[in-house]
This record gives sequence, structure tokens and C-alpha cells, in this order.
Amino acid sequence: MIGRPRGRSGATAHRSKPAVVSSLVAHPAAPLNGAIDPPGDKSISHRALILGACCVGETVIEGLLESADVMATARALAAFGAEIERGDGGRWHVHGVGVGGLMPPADVLDLGNSGTGVRLLLGLAASHDLTATFTGDASLRGRPMERAMAPLRQLGARFEAREGGRLPVTVKGAAEPLPIEYRLPVASAQVKSAVLLAGLNAPGITTVIEPRPSRDHTENLLRHFGAEMAVTAIDGGGRRIALHGQPELTPRAVRVPGDPSSAAFAVAAALIVPGSEITVRGVGLNPLRAALFDTLREMGAEIAESERRQLQAEPMADLRVRAGALHGIEVPPERAPAMIDEYPILAVVAAFAEGETVMRGIEELRVKESDRIAAMVGGLRALGVEVEELPDGLVVRGGRVPAPAPAGVVIETDMDHRIAMSFLVYGLGAAAPVTVAGCQMIDTSFPGFAQAMAGLGARLAPADDPGAVP
Ligand code: S3P
Repeated sequence: MIGRPRGRSGATAHRSKPAVVSSLVAHPAAPLNGAIDPPGDKSISHRALILGACCVGETVIEGLLESADVMATARALAAFGAEIERGDGGRWHVHGVGVGGLMPPADVLDLGNSGTGVRLLLGLAASHDLTATFTGDASLRGRPMERAMAPLRQLGARFEAREGGRLPVTVKGAAEPLPIEYRLPVASAQVKSAVLLAGLNAPGITTVIEPRPSRDHTENLLRHFGAEMAVTAIDGGGRRIALHGQPELTPRAVRVPGDPSSAAFAVAAALIVPGSEITVRGVGLNPLRAALFDTLREMGAEIAESERRQLQAEPMADLRVRAGALHGIEVPPERAPAMIDEYPILAVVAAFAEGETVMRGIEELRVKESDRIAAMVGGLRALGVEVEELPDGLVVRGGRVPAPAPAGVVIETDMDHRIAMSFLVYGLGAAAPVTVAGCQMIDTSFPGFAQAMAGLGARLAPADDPGAVP
């Protein structure tokens, strides 16, 4: 169980396991076949735990992603007083403290690699009369937190941060939080969610205005747990979200759909390994998340949906994917928020597509787990792919079969799980094996990735770490 020690031992089970394998070699694959169940959605898993902690009583979560990021959020919530336990059948039980019921944590909260965890919890803590200090790994300590702190200051919270608004950050929450109206300068689901979670414990109506809609899992789950909210479209395509503060949230069962961002790697592998045909089951297809699949279809991909169903306002379906010829396209920049985490794997697919794929309007990628534009440009170039780096994106000039990579290249992944998985998928479609360093980070979002891909016939084998950098 994860919880405050209450006279019981074993209070911090489910710590993320130490990394065992750091480099993997992806071997060119024979056709991939079979079916895969992607792990639970990371964004929804964080939110289900957090909102479960805001209920009075027990919330049961099925299909929770048991990854390092989500476990870090669970441990932080336990430090705030919630009791969280893994029960029979892999169901997670959250005994919440109720809206406004967090207790001051006794120690620094380490959110590991998780930007979502830290930003959402900064929001939640900001409207409680307590002090809490957050930190994370080297990647997370390099990421901007000011974007979350700015609105939370208006609500009455105070912060001490390292230079540049970097972690460690100490929040002194507002004893009497004010409801605010906040216009997001950039479309960010994390900042939107931080403000809404803070607004839960403020009297009156907290309003967030977003220039473009970002993933709405927080809104969907807030409604599921009984919060009252009005969401209206505004001129220019954005949204206005108005939350009634201090609701009584009621525990409700949650089922987490498969993560489209994790499913994306299997889908991409099946598209680029000739002769493949696979099924990816139970993929979350929230329209504000799943635009990669539309983009791939525009590139000529055969991706068929079946068994469409719904879990707490979240659409989900099985995807049947077949390899075939692909061509480059210009990805509409306004689509970026709905596939923001999928550009690294799209850049890989683009290397296997005839012609040019233009990805613009994605400067946000520079402040993710790594600078993902630089990481993709560097890695693809090292593999011999023609790529152009733009301030706000990249252009990949691909071909059905990219030129064989120069021997001895090791792709560095800069503590970024999605960069690691993207280049491993590249190796499955390539003419020669590709070695990828830093693969232990994959556990932050897709534990068991190599095994899951092996189930489809892919070989991702441990390697020595020769240490060359592209
Ligand atoms: C997430 C939102 C996105 C995304 C991240 C998860 C979330 O970040 O990149 O991986 O769960 O809210 P931004 O909100 O900063 O765009």
C-alpha cells in the first residue's frame, strides 16, 4: 500500500524499480503480427488518483497505468494524507481526504520525471493552507514551472523556486483561496488542470480560458465525480471552462482506457515494417488526444477502427493497422495540441514516407522531457535521414526505405522515454540494427514495452553501452 504510515509497515511499496537495462538494440523486424493491449492512459491515471484523493471514501480504479510517473503521483498523494493500495485484479483503491482535506507532507515530494504529476499537484496544493516542496529528476528540474505558478499566485499561493522557475519549488498554499479567471497564454492541459484543481477548494467559480482546446480528461473526470462545470466554445476556437468551487466529490469507479500515446509506437511499427498487420486493443480516442491517427491516415496509413465504446466520456476502440506505402504531408499546426506527444514517433514514420513531412507550430516540444525537436533532428541525422530543424518544428525528407545507418551509432535519448521508444521503432523498420541509450526511462510511461513489442514479433535486445553520441 502507499499511504502515510499508520502504525503499519510497508508504507511505501510500489517504488519505481531501479533501472536494469539502459541500452537496447532494435533489430530489423520480420512482419509484425498479433494483438497488443497498450498500458493505461498516463494522463487519465494521474487524474484518477488525484480526484480519487479529493473524494471522501473509496475510489476504485481499473486499468491504472503502473508506471514510474504515475507511482510518483500516488506516493505524493499518500504524503498529503490519501491511502492508496493495489488490490485484487490489479485494481487500485484510493481512500480520499475530500476537497480541501490535504495534510502537510512531512518530506520533500519527488515527482521523478513527471511534469504532469508536479504541475497538477502544485495546483491542488495551492489552495490548501500548507507548505510543500516538490522536486524531480534532472530532466524535470530543467523544465519550466512558472507557467503553473503564475495563475496560482493570483489565487493566493506563494512560491519559492530555483532560478528560472525551476524545481525544487516550495508552495505555500492559500489559506483563503480566491476564485480566479485565467486566460492561458499557451494551450496547456497541465496548466489548465492545475488551475481547475486549485479552484476545487476555492469558493465561487474558477474560470480557465484556453486559446485552443487541450486534452479535457480533467474536465471529464471532474464531472464523473460530480463537480459542476460549464464548458463553452469561444471565438477563435478556444474554450471557457467554469468550475463551481468546493463541490462534494463522490467516489465513482474509474476504468482507464489504453494510452493512445503508447499505442502510437505499436501502430507506427506496424506501418513501417513491411507485411505487418496488427491489432491494438482498447485505445483511448479522445479527439483532443488522438489526432496522430488522422495524420497517419492522411499519409496513406491503413488504420481501421472497430468496437467503439465509451469509458467515462472517453471514447475508445480497437485499431487494426496494416503496413503500406506512406507519403509525406504538411501537418496542420493547429492540430498540435491534440497530438503534442506524438511528434517524435511521427518524425520516425516520416522517415519511412516518400517525400517531405512538415511539422510546425510545435515549439512546446522544446520544453518537454527533453527538447524533442533537437532530439529527433539529432537522432534522425545520425541515422542518415535528411532533416531540417526549424525554430518551431522540423521537416523530414523520407523514403520508403531510409538509407542504412552508419555503423556504430548510438542514439542518446536525453532522459526522454518517447525519444527512446521512437528510435527503437525506427530500428524495427530499418535496414540495420539501431542502438538506443537511456531506455530505462521507458518505464515512466510504458513499463514492459520491449516485452509487449516482442509479443508482436519485434526484437529489442539489451546492449552494452558503447557510449557514442550522435
Ligand atoms: C499532459 C499534457 C501535455 C502533454 C503531457 C501530458 C497532461 O502537456 O505533453 O505529456 O496529462 O495534461 P502540456 O499540457 O504542457 O501541453
